[in-house]
Amino acid sequence: MDGPEQVRARLEDTGYLVDDGLAIACFLALRLGRPLFCEGDAGVGKTALASALAEALDAPLIRLQCHEGIDASQALYDWDFPRQLLRLRAAEAVGVTDADRLEGELYDRRFLLARPLLRALETQPSVLLIDEIDRADDEFEAFLLELLSEFSVTIPELGTLRAETPPVVVLTSNRTREVHDALKRRCLYHWFDHPGFARELAIVRRRLPGVSARLAEQVTALVQELRGHDLLKPPGVAETIDWAEALDALGADEVDAELATATLGSVLKYREDAQRGRELDFAAVLAVRGA
Ligand SMILES: Nc1ncnc2c1ncn2[C@@H]1O[C@H](COP(=O)(O)OP(=O)(O)OP(=O)(O)O)[C@@H](O)[C@H]1O
Ligand SMILES: [Mg+2]
Repeated sequence: MDGPEQVRARLEDTGYLVDDGLAIACFLALRLGRPLFCEGDAGVGKTALASALAEALDAPLIRLQCHEGIDASQALYDWDFPRQLLRLRAAEAVGVTDADRLEGELYDRRFLLARPLLRALETQPSVLLIDEIDRADDEFEAFLLELLSEFSVTIPELGTLRAETPPVVVLTSNRTREVHDALKRRCLYHWFDHPGFARELAIVRRRLPGVSARLAEQVTALVQELRGHDLLKPPGVAETIDWAEALDALGADEVDAELATATLGSVLKYREDAQRGRELDFAAVLAVRGA
């Protein structure tokens, strides 16, 4: 792609709306072949960016979901022991006893299970999403660092596999812990803020074209207001979309304070936050929007 404007246009075609900063970050990640490290609160569009990039580039999205205790056998590759065992039995049944030959046959690419990281090295082009890296531990981060600098992997039984064209890499973090500087240094960094009113409304309209314009506007205004109230879990764009969808499912094409309070469960997911939400003067917020 020629420049940030073209990246923005392509992403918008997929339904993903970016601001200038993110368009530039994506362009540079593509142009310089650097991983893009996306950090921000829940529900602000980090994961969705990777899917949108894949669609825009017409490349498959390969996703590695990180979790506590994730290791190379879940992320990179593993040997398919049951199939190897079957092969061994079959060989024994026909009287093959040459140990070297057997070993060579058993550690063949056919018996290798490619996990997301290996799949991404073997699939060109591809977009590799390493989702929620902050959930993995330090050891896994160090392992990733190595992989992201070389884009190659050495499998002792098979040798070294190297990606000719490295995948486009998107890493995301909810910042439940700080990711090490060494990993960040490899990457371009983008912090995802909650969008402002106009952009959030545009996102809701884009995602839910069937919902009334007025309802979309009211819900966006209410969520923007909620975010200013020091909640345990401020609602993300995901919740704005959910709330508008829920109200639409109830047949509403606009919302008043009473209905907003009755449907708060779509948007606030902690008891304390729900309590706080019920105390807010939704009528006043809606009045500003001409309700
Ligand atoms: N800029 C955007 N354009 C279009 N849709 C968006 C945008 N930002 C967020 N969304 C929508 O908001 C929803 C939530 O986004 P997503 O799941 O990517 O958030 P996230 O940051 O990965 O959250 P989490 O940290 O909880 O995983 C998705 O349905 C996505 O389509
Ligand atoms: Mg996500």
